[in-house]
Amino acid sequence: MLIPGGTGGVGEGAVRAYLAAGAQVVVPTRSQERAHQFRDLLGTAANERLHLFEHDYTSFEGAEKLVATMVERLGGVDDVLAPIGGWWYGKRLWEIDETDWQGAFVALATTHMAMLRAALPRLTQQGAYSIVVGESAHSPVPGSGLVSMEQAALAMMHRVVAAELGNAKRVFLLELGPVATRFTETTDPAQVTSAQIGAVAVAASASTQPGRHVRLLNRTQAEDALVSIGAAQ
Ligand SMILES: NC(=O)c1ccc[n+]([C@@H]2O[C@H](COP(=O)([O-])OP(=O)(O)OC[C@H]3O[C@@H](n4cnc5c(N)ncnc54)[C@H](OP(=O)(O)O)[C@@H]3O)[C@@H](O)[C@H]2O)c1
Repeated sequence: MLIPGGTGGVGEGAVRAYLAAGAQVVVPTRSQERAHQFRDLLGTAANERLHLFEHDYTSFEGAEKLVATMVERLGGVDDVLAPIGGWWYGKRLWEIDETDWQGAFVALATTHMAMLRAALPRLTQQGAYSIVVGESAHSPVPGSGLVSMEQAALAMMHRVVAAELGNAKRVFLLELGPVATRFTETTDPAQVTSAQIGAVAVAASASTQPGRHVRLLNRTQAEDALVSIGAAQ
C-alpha cells in the first residue's frame, strides 16, 4: 500500500486503517522532520509494516524512483491512495500571482500525475488506485478558485483514466466534504472523519468492485459507502 500525502490530516486516517488491516504501508514525505513527527503521532500504531521515510515524490523522476524501489523491495504495488495537498485560499482568480499558480495548481497536479504514471502500470490486477479530491472539484469556492480548478482537473483525470483502462484496473475517485482530522478545531458530528475515509479506502482495496466515483461528503455517505463496497466483496 502506497500513501503519498499520508502524513496529512486525511492521510493519517488511511495510514492507521491500512496498518490495522495488516498491510505493508509505504508513506513517503518531503520532510525528515515531518517523518519524525508523524511517527511520534502514530505511537504504537507505527509498527514494522510502516515504511515512513523522507523522499521527494513530487516530480516524475521522484515518483518513478519511489515506485520502482517499492516493487524491488516489497515485490509490487497493490494499492495506492493519493490524499496529496491541502487547502489554499485568500485570492480571487485575477489576484493570484505566478507563485500561487505554480504552488496550488501546477505543483499539486504534477505530483498527482507523477504518482499515477509511475504506479498505475505496476499496479497488481486486483489492486486499487484512489484519487482524493474535495467537493470543490464540482462547486466553485470564491477565493479558493485554484483549489477548485486543480481538484476539477483531478476529477477529470479519474474519468479519463477510467475511460482509457476500461475494466483492466480499478481506479476510484474519493470526493470528500469537510473532514474531521487532527487539524480540525471544531467537530460537527455530521462531518466525515479521516478514520472513515481510511475504512472506505481499505474496503475498496479489499473488494473486487470496479473503480468508481465515491462521494464521502458527510458521515452518512461514508457509512453508506462502506456498506455498498463491503457488500460487493
Ligand atoms: N481536510 C479536508 O477537510 C478535506 C476536504 C476535502 C478534500 N480534501 C482533500 O484531501 C486531500 C488531503 O487533504 P489534507 O487535509 O489531508 O491535507 P494536508 O493535511 O495538508 O496533507 C496533505 C499532504 O500532502 C502532501 N503534499 C505533497 N505535496 C504537497 C504540496 N505541494 N502542498 C501541500 N501538501 C503536499 C504533504 O505530505 P508531506 O509534507 O509529508 O510530503 C501533506 O501531508 C487533498 O486532496 C484535499 O483537497 C481534504
